[in-house]
Amino acid sequence: MTRYLNTPTDIWLTGAGSGIGYELADQLIQSGHRLRLSARRCEPLARLATAAPDRVRVLPLDMTDRDATIAMTSDLLEPSPVQLAILNAGTCEYLDASRFSSQVIANNVNTNLLGTANCIEAVLPTLRQVRRTGLPAALVIVSSSASWFPFARAEGYGASKAALTYLAHSLRADLAAEGIEVTVVSPGFVKTPLTDRNDFPMPFLITAEQAAQKILAGLRVGRRDIHFPRRFTWLLKILSALPQPLIDRLAARLNRTASDHQELRP
Ligand SMILES: NC(=O)c1ccc[n+]([C@@H]2O[C@H](COP(=O)([O-])OP(=O)(O)OC[C@H]3O[C@@H](n4cnc5c(N)ncnc54)[C@H](OP(=O)(O)O)[C@@H]3O)[C@@H](O)[C@H]2O)c1
Repeated sequence: MTRYLNTPTDIWLTGAGSGIGYELADQLIQSGHRLRLSARRCEPLARLATAAPDRVRVLPLDMTDRDATIAMTSDLLEPSPVQLAILNAGTCEYLDASRFSSQVIANNVNTNLLGTANCIEAVLPTLRQVRRTGLPAALVIVSSSASWFPFARAEGYGASKAALTYLAHSLRADLAAEGIEVTVVSPGFVKTPLTDRNDFPMPFLITAEQAAQKILAGLRVGRRDIHFPRRFTWLLKILSALPQPLIDRLAARLNRTASDHQELRP
């Protein structure tokens, strides 16, 4: 288990424009690391860069554009190669099952799974280059604990994150021989622009600042699977171990409770 971030490190962080990514960027900049920051909107990235213009580069990117993402390979290698790629960018679109739309599924999968896969393809040559010099190198993939339980309306989001976690664990096995490590981050509910749209109760909600602290603390001690808040994620782990008929009943009941909650809203 390699410990990261204990010395100044070259980092590529996606989804740095808001929420968890913005807080990660802010804390990493304050700790003296060298950052490449990506998201589609340039303005928040440029704002972050003003804190340390000599250590922060803004690399605007729509990661669903495969050609544009792969074309970033040289920006990740020069002038100093990225050692740690924190692939955090993502989206969440809920499905209304009464008007099932495969487009909702596609939107989640295109961003969360295929977009992240594009980023992996872009950065792997650089991580291999780093390993050839004998330094540690890692991919950090921000997935979600939501995929551990069949939450209603999360068909697209949960499926994209379940696939992403599988991809990460499978890639971990493939890259082990090369010494490139893969860390999976599975947050519970975090207050960000992504969850501000939610119209249902979010148990154990934490701030983006707390989420970023937990991710960085996990990387500093060399955790390969980082999940939080633990009261929520352990509960989900236990629920996911129940027999499927029990899980189905619980998921349906939670959905009814959430619907009642919405009906009570003004
Ligand atoms: N908040 C939670 O409760 C929670 C829970 C579990 C997992 N997560 C995961 O944590 C990650 C961060 O989420 P968040 O809550 O911080 O959301 P957020 O505030 O909406 O941030 C998402 C970031 O991703 C960027 N992004 C979205 N689509 C992109 C694309 N196609 N190409 C490049 N960048 C893109 C956004 O910037 P632009 O719009 O400018 O591109 C933004 O910077 C996501 O992967 C999310 O699934 C969040």
